[in-house]
Amino acid sequence: MSKYLTIKEILEKKEEEVFLRGWVYRIRAQKDNVFITIRDHSGIIQLVATKEKLKEDAFALAKSLGIESSIKVFGKLRKEERSPQGYEIDLQSIELIGKSENYPISKDFSEEFLLDVRHLWLRSRKMTSILKVRSTVIGAIHEYFRKEGFFEYQSPILQSVQCEGGSTLFKVDYFEQEGVFLAQTWQLYAEPAIFSLGKIYTIAPSFRAEKSKTSRHLTEYWHAEMEGAWIDFEELQDHGEGLIKHVIRSVLEKHKEDLEILKRDYRVLETAISKPFVRMTYTEALKLLKEKEDLDIEWGKDLRTIEEDKLSKMTDTFTIVTRYPKQVKAFYMKEDPKDEKVVLGFDCIGPEGYGEIIGASEREADIDKIIQRLKEQGEDPKNYEFYLDTRRYGSVPHSGFGMGVERLISYITGLNSIKDAIPFPRTMVRYKP
Ligand code: 4AD
Ligand code: MG
Repeated sequence: MSKYLTIKEILEKKEEEVFLRGWVYRIRAQKDNVFITIRDHSGIIQLVATKEKLKEDAFALAKSLGIESSIKVFGKLRKEERSPQGYEIDLQSIELIGKSENYPISKDFSEEFLLDVRHLWLRSRKMTSILKVRSTVIGAIHEYFRKEGFFEYQSPILQSVQCEGGSTLFKVDYFEQEGVFLAQTWQLYAEPAIFSLGKIYTIAPSFRAEKSKTSRHLTEYWHAEMEGAWIDFEELQDHGEGLIKHVIRSVLEKHKEDLEILKRDYRVLETAISKPFVRMTYTEALKLLKEKEDLDIEWGKDLRTIEEDKLSKMTDTFTIVTRYPKQVKAFYMKEDPKDEKVVLGFDCIGPEGYGEIIGASEREADIDKIIQRLKEQGEDPKNYEFYLDTRRYGSVPHSGFGMGVERLISYITGLNSIKDAIPFPRTMVRYKP
């Protein structure tokens, strides 16, 4: 066991003599004292170096440290009412491990600059807290699906079909072959596997050549997807709600401190998961928007961001909007047997204007309808033969959804931009570093 403890462990154990290592977060030097705030992944604490207690060269070293220098120290823990942690450490010795001079992040905190130096900005307390929450979110998604009896399954990232509309496909230079794309979704390669595994899920990157520079769109995002044989439209909605609630509950259990650092009021999250999600049809949503917001939307038009935002602000929990018009949804969504104008699909919209978090549907079973709708979209059904076989050989009712991991993280941590929900965001205009 290492004698070095994390800052969090030091504050928990409160032993008098402590060894710790980390990075210089802040430093303020006076003639006879140097105040160094040290950070590691677990927190920050102030070290006090005094000329009288330290050897001459150690004091000189402490005084000369630049922001983000890495150090190992030994010292004595002392109660200090005025410190936010309640304790400080009086330095006995200090060792420089990696020097850091003129750390680039000091004055300019503009969004673009921080994205340019993303590799360094990851060390900020803000990013550290977001990345911790992200880790829990990913873990909780695995937990939920495994607890519900789903198998984890992997689909290819290099694909030969579109699923969510050709306009957002990234073409790949594939040994001079045409028609190879990065995955928009696992779906067409997941449906064949439910005949093998029953209920499956994945967490994997998806790619969208989105030409939108909004606070909700990435070109590379992490997609939590599920697909299940025999799962009907109602059960699908229950899984969407169950998954989101489990993830948020897990974050609330472990990350109140991080949410505080991020200035996110965790009580809104508690409220959001304390009640059933609002469920309404698309047609009911239009009616509500008309009544409450005086917004006239022609039946058959997709809901835009502004309408989703208005809907989300009518409640303090998530809203599941079902049965959209067929023409605004993907070719694979099942026609409602009771109304052929709409599909058994839903979008789950986050509170506070965080937008669509889940896109879902029961899958169309009628092979002729699938072929018809592919043709209407200008697709050659021949390319989809492998997919159509799922409807030819022992087809069963089935459903699935995709959840944008960064969309959910943005909501949970209260971000202004989805870019901070992922370590190195990729957008239409940003692919470096
Ligand atoms: O609604 P979408 O396009 O649905 C599908 O891809 C289905 N094939 C999923 C399935 O049934 N297996 O995308 C699903 C979710 C959206 O609700 C949104 O949360 C997220 O993926 N998403 C994005 N997140 C970040 N940046 C983008 N450009 C996104 N596009 C979609
Ligand atoms: Mg969608």
